[in-house]
Amino acid sequence: MFKQTAMALACALSLGISSLAQAADPIVIKFSHVVADSTPKGQGALMFKKLAEERLPGKVKVEVYPNSSLFGDGKEMEALLLGDVQLIAPSLAKFEQYTKQLQVFDLPFLFNDMAAVDRFQHSPEGQKLLTSMESKGITGLAYWHNGLKQLSANKPLREPKDARGLKFRVQASAVLEEQFKAVRANPRKMSFAEVYQGLQTGVVNGAENPYSNIYSQKMHEVQKYITESNHGLLDYMLITNTKFWNGLPEDVRSELGKIMVEVTAEVNKQADALNQGDKQRILDAKTTEIISLTPEQRNEWREAMKPVWKKFEGEIGPDLIKAAEAANQ
Ligand code: LMR
Repeated sequence: MFKQTAMALACALSLGISSLAQAADPIVIKFSHVVADSTPKGQGALMFKKLAEERLPGKVKVEVYPNSSLFGDGKEMEALLLGDVQLIAPSLAKFEQYTKQLQVFDLPFLFNDMAAVDRFQHSPEGQKLLTSMESKGITGLAYWHNGLKQLSANKPLREPKDARGLKFRVQASAVLEEQFKAVRANPRKMSFAEVYQGLQTGVVNGAENPYSNIYSQKMHEVQKYITESNHGLLDYMLITNTKFWNGLPEDVRSELGKIMVEVTAEVNKQADALNQGDKQRILDAKTTEIISLTPEQRNEWREAMKPVWKKFEGEIGPDLIKAAEAANQ
C-alpha cells in the first residue's frame, strides 16, 4: 500500500516537474534564408535574433541559418508549411505558386526608385498583399528591402541587343523568364546557392541581382561586367506559418510584432548603404567593370522589356499594377 502511494507520488512529482520544465522551455524560432549575413536580409535576421532574445529572455530562442545552410530555395517554403522553420523571407519573385498577385513586384522598370517601392508597400494595396496567402497557411509580417537589380555578364551589356542569345540565371519566376525572352536571351531558373558555380562553369552567362548579393556570393569574380540598369526590384516578404504565429502566447506575439516593426525600419533604412558599400568593394576588387547607361540606352531596355507587363496583367490584375505605378508620383 505504502509502496503504491510512494510510486504514485513519485510519478505525480516527476510529471509535475517535467511539465514545469516544459513551461520554462523557450519557444525556438528557426529563421532560414539563402543569403550571406552581411546583406540586408542577413543583417535583419541577426537583428531580429538579438532583440527577440534580449526582450523575451528565456521565452524565445532564435536560430538563424544563413546561406541555404538549412533549407535552400524551393525547400524553404515547404519547410515553413511543415513547421520545420518558423520564419523565412523569400524574395518577392518566389511566391508565384502561392499567389500570382506578388508578381507585380517583378515587372521590369515598374518602380523609379526605392522611395516608390516604399510608398507602394505601405499603401493599402501593398499591405493587403501581406495577408493574401493566409488561406494557404502563410502570414506575411513585413516587406524587407534589398534593392534594385543590376545586370551582369561577361560581355558589356549596353543595349538590349547585347543580351541576345545569352543564358541568364533567373529566380523561379515566370515574369523574370519573360523579361529575358523579351530581349531574346535564354532564361534559366536556378536556385540562389547554385548561381556562382553556374556562372563559373558557363551553364549560364549572366545574372541579375543587387550589389549586396553579387558581392557576397563573389559573382563579380566570374562576371567581367555589371550594367547599372536598376531595371527591377529584389525585395522580400518576411513570412511565418499562420498556425504557428496565431498559436503563440499573446504577450510573446505582440512583443515579436513590435520587434519586427523596429527591425523592418532598420533593414529598409540600411539596405541602400549596404548595396552602395558592396558596389565600392566590387570596384576595389578590380574584377569587374561597372557600366552606366545613358538615359537613351536605359530607355531602350525599358521599351524592350515593357511588353512583359501586358502578358501578366490578367494574372496580377490591372488595378494592382496601376496602384504600384501610381507610387512613382
Ligand atoms: C536570388 O535568388 O537571386 C535572391 O532571391 C536571393 C535572395 O534571397 O536575395
